[in-house]
Amino acid sequence: MRVESPTSSETRRKTVHYAESNHAEYLTAFVPAVQPYVDVYKSAGFKPVRRSIRISWELTEQPARHDDVQTKELSKEHANEAAEVWVEGLRPYWDWWIEEQGGPEELKSWVKESVGTEPGWIGAFLDEKLVGLAILRPDAYGPGEARFNGAYVIPRFREQRVGSALMKATIREGHRLNQKKMKVYTLAFLDYLAPGSLLYLKSGGKIEAEYLQLQRK
Ligand SMILES: CC(C)(COP(=O)(O)OP(=O)(O)OC[C@H]1O[C@@H](n2cnc3c(N)ncnc32)[C@H](O)[C@@H]1OP(=O)(O)O)[C@@H](O)C(=O)NCCC(=O)NCCS
Repeated sequence: MRVESPTSSETRRKTVHYAESNHAEYLTAFVPAVQPYVDVYKSAGFKPVRRSIRISWELTEQPARHDDVQTKELSKEHANEAAEVWVEGLRPYWDWWIEEQGGPEELKSWVKESVGTEPGWIGAFLDEKLVGLAILRPDAYGPGEARFNGAYVIPRFREQRVGSALMKATIREGHRLNQKKMKVYTLAFLDYLAPGSLLYLKSGGKIEAEYLQLQRK
């Protein structure tokens, strides 16, 4: 007998009772691989045996692809534009983080100070318009160990290969600056990866560790 994701303990209790009263040989549950849901089942005597993954294909959408994305290091003259692009490029995935950092204006003023004075700001341009950027911090974790602060593309230019071009340019820049390794801490949702993680895995990154963000109100 198979139980499809009842996550409340009352529903789960009724289901187990129903299965027992029908003398089911065994009971299989199928829940999101998220610890709190799993714990509900463990407490009722279920043991994890294997995982399933859901994979989907969008068969009707054929996004535009640009092979003409130009990438280059940003200089002081791009600072204001870069500030706008970064905040726009963070949305909507990082809205919570923008608020945590004190709001968009706070972040923009940091970009304006940093672009052109610190190395590692890489811009992506389509028809000379800045549409995305990536941030590499050489030697941030020690000699030759860079921190990668991520790739960001403004929403209407996503899924057109701009992110991929930024990753190529970032890796090239890492080599040029004699970096042996780079690391990023990025976002994943509870039961699936965000586009950024997928882009990073596609460009050769490997998952080293996973963390869980917790919140209490
Ligand atoms: C992550 C991001 C930079 C990707 O940029 P992009 O220009 O859309 O990326 P590309 O078109 O080059 O796509 C490259 C790969 O990224 C992944 N990807 C991009 N968008 C995706 C989406 N909506 N869902 C799932 N995977 C996605 C895919 O693996 C894709 O490869 P594929 O097209 O061969 O499947 C963009 O979604 C973004 O700006 N997100 C918000 C900012 C962010 O969270 N950045 C990470 C911060 S650490």
